[in-house]
Amino acid sequence: MKSQEIRSKFLNFFEGKQHLIVPSAPMVLKDDPTLMFVNSGMAPFKEYFLGNAEPKKNRISDSQKCLRVSGKHNDLEEVGYDTYHHTLFEMLGNWSFGDYFKKEAIAWAWELLTEVYGIDKDILYVTVFEGSDDADKLKMDTEAYDIWKQYISEDRILKGNKKDNFWEMGDQGPCGPCSEIHVDIRSKEERAKVDGKTLINMDHPHVVEVWNLVFMEYNRRANGSLEALPNKHIDTGMGFERLCMVLQGVQSNYDTDVFTPIIREIETITDKKYGNNEEVDVAIRVISDHVRAVAFSIADGQLPSNTGAGYVIRRILRRAVRYGFTFLDKKEPLIYRLVDVLSKKMGDAFPELKAQKQLIENVIKEEEASFLRTLDQGLVLLNRIVEETKGDTVSGEKAFELYDTYGFPIDLTALILSEKNLKLDEKGFKEELEKQKKRSRSASETSTEDWTILIEDDVEEFIGYDTLEANVRITRYRKVTSKKDGEMYQLVFNLTPFYAEGGGQIGDKGFLEDISGDVVYILDTKKENNVIIHFTKELPEHINESFKAVVNNEHRALSSSNHTATHLLHQALRTILGEHVEQKGSLVKPKSLRFDFSHFSKVTPEQLQEIEDFVNARIEGKLPLEEERNIPMEKAIEEGAMALFGEKYGDTVRTIRFGNSIELCGGIHVKNTSDIWHFKIVSEGAVAAGIRRIEGITNKAVKDYFSENNAAYLEMKGLLNNAKEPVKALENLQDENNDLKKQIEGLLKDKAKNIIGELKNELTEINGVHFLAKKLDLDASGIKDVCFDLGSQFDNLVLLFGAENDGKAILSCYISKELVASKGLNAGAIVRELGKHIQGGGGGQPFFATAGGKNPAGIEAALEAAKGYL
Ligand code: SER
Repeated sequence: MKSQEIRSKFLNFFEGKQHLIVPSAPMVLKDDPTLMFVNSGMAPFKEYFLGNAEPKKNRISDSQKCLRVSGKHNDLEEVGYDTYHHTLFEMLGNWSFGDYFKKEAIAWAWELLTEVYGIDKDILYVTVFEGSDDADKLKMDTEAYDIWKQYISEDRILKGNKKDNFWEMGDQGPCGPCSEIHVDIRSKEERAKVDGKTLINMDHPHVVEVWNLVFMEYNRRANGSLEALPNKHIDTGMGFERLCMVLQGVQSNYDTDVFTPIIREIETITDKKYGNNEEVDVAIRVISDHVRAVAFSIADGQLPSNTGAGYVIRRILRRAVRYGFTFLDKKEPLIYRLVDVLSKKMGDAFPELKAQKQLIENVIKEEEASFLRTLDQGLVLLNRIVEETKGDTVSGEKAFELYDTYGFPIDLTALILSEKNLKLDEKGFKEELEKQKKRSRSASETSTEDWTILIEDDVEEFIGYDTLEANVRITRYRKVTSKKDGEMYQLVFNLTPFYAEGGGQIGDKGFLEDISGDVVYILDTKKENNVIIHFTKELPEHINESFKAVVNNEHRALSSSNHTATHLLHQALRTILGEHVEQKGSLVKPKSLRFDFSHFSKVTPEQLQEIEDFVNARIEGKLPLEEERNIPMEKAIEEGAMALFGEKYGDTVRTIRFGNSIELCGGIHVKNTSDIWHFKIVSEGAVAAGIRRIEGITNKAVKDYFSENNAAYLEMKGLLNNAKEPVKALENLQDENNDLKKQIEGLLKDKAKNIIGELKNELTEINGVHFLAKKLDLDASGIKDVCFDLGSQFDNLVLLFGAENDGKAILSCYISKELVASKGLNAGAIVRELGKHIQGGGGGQPFFATAGGKNPAGIEAALEAAKGYL
């Protein structure tokens, strides 16, 4: 059975059991501080379990893309070494939100596996939770046990501990006991020899868990305690790739048709064979797994970067590059070439891959090329470290510097050292790593208290599209302490006029005022899943009373102005640059706006002018805001609104129209484009391969911009003696300046020539080597000329010159090539050593190198040391 058919059989089965089939949610989470990526099928439905939102239907089923590379569930380092763990995998799931429970979940799982997929009952085992006598004091799940007894003999029902049979999504959140279904795909003979029961949860590659049925009934609170959820739910997750392995009769996920096309392509590109050599196999598995994770993330709008989720993606990609570099001898980009097969294989089930293929390829290629350059530079640095190592061990500190500053992977360092018969001080390296972790941990540590509930409220209502003020009650609050912000309070209201950060627009600010006129400032508003959270520095005194909540009007108005300009800019880009332009991110603040979009070349100054004019024409056209709330998604798309990849939309959406610009948007906008006053682009540049960024300003910021520029212009004109044509006057000055520079260079060159005559006479001969160490009154380039001039006249020459330029010290060392070869002298090593005297460092080639430092007083000492050195 092909993988496509396996997936659709699952979904059809649950559709037949009255489940609503939904597409996979985006993998990268935006509004959840406790989770970076969807790490299990249930994560997108978390709010339904907690009762913070209502599902469309109380039975849902889907195939969800999941990524387990950070936090509680992290499989990254195992991937490649075994045949059944992945970074990205598909989780097939069925959900009951307060509807059916254990009886149906177990019956249907059994029916699907044994009757629809026809898996032999003799190779199946199940587990149930045995209970725990720790602080949670949980009882054994006898209910599940008794249900399973009806389907499978009792010797195949195993009792499992909390680690395997009590499922928790993270440190906090919904959880409950679970029953896992395991499959033993070993040969008949092997099964007869060793009882499959003894291999359950023992990391055996052919006795694996395929399906987990979770019976959600608790919520884990921040203080570690469990509380009962208002309703009982079902969350099941089946590993799609493992199921394919079982149904396709193969012994590894990588031998299923999910992976084989990618593996064949790697074989073609690298000229290596899968299945002959363990190191090569690991590398091929790593790459074929990681390309999926990275491609899906980029399709969801998460580009590799230096922070947060982007950094995790960058690390996954670099891990793949490193394995290709080391074990497949591939020193040029290769992973981007796999995107084509991947999108052919999975593009029907996940159309985002097909739609964004070119962007995914470009981004991966650029990232690969840049990391390969890092690896090259790292190799040069590592060779230098090796040269300078006395004894047989490279210090942990040096290896850490290479890893931390240059991003050179430590396992590669260890491998190269062992090839050179050197050792790595691994203990020292680990100590450095630990120190660094401690530093960053203490910088990012936050502690979040549990909510204090004041009023049991259903869902908080946002009324801020229509009003900036409202009477509100605080329904719950909690304290959050972090290094960055100190102590803060987070408040939730029964209803709120405050807009929470979202869709690129930052959150509202404002205040709460109680009846006696006491005020507490709201510093920011953010969303956590569906809950709008208001941030304050202090807790209002009369917390149980009602407050007047007031949004800061100017902050809101300026943000709105920039937000509307962003929509007009988007329209301008698609009109002027082409329909390939897609929004890839935006940041809308009161002072400025930022818009990232896909486009493969620099936007020319003429195009930028055209774009600016396009937007300003619409501002001058005084276009009114036309807003539609709660319209069906299909209708919005029909009307011309574009859905963005990686965004989560409900069934009904809000559309914002200004003239012909129409967007799906939850943000705040001006009532008329004339409120924007004017739009000005202030910069254009690249963010990543194929992604450009435009920064712009509107409204008050444009007025400030013009008046500041005008003031600077008048000042400049004054400095040019109020010249009638200031630009011309400036050009004249520049020309004059260039002429003078040239004259000085010429004079210095003449001076260097004269000096050479004198220096020749000062050369001494030590052991057949011509040598001179001296302080010169020349700049670095003059000294270089002197060195090479003398070098062309004398063999066996060693020169060390010092000079003081603008209060800084420089040292230059020249060594004839024949001495480099015969005596192993190295100018780079010499200047690095002598650089200590001038409190600096440097480097270069073995025959010529320079060092710069901040201590000119040390030049004499360096010259003296050089004499001794020789
Ligand atoms: N949440 C459970 C898991 O991820 C079942 O979906 O294993």
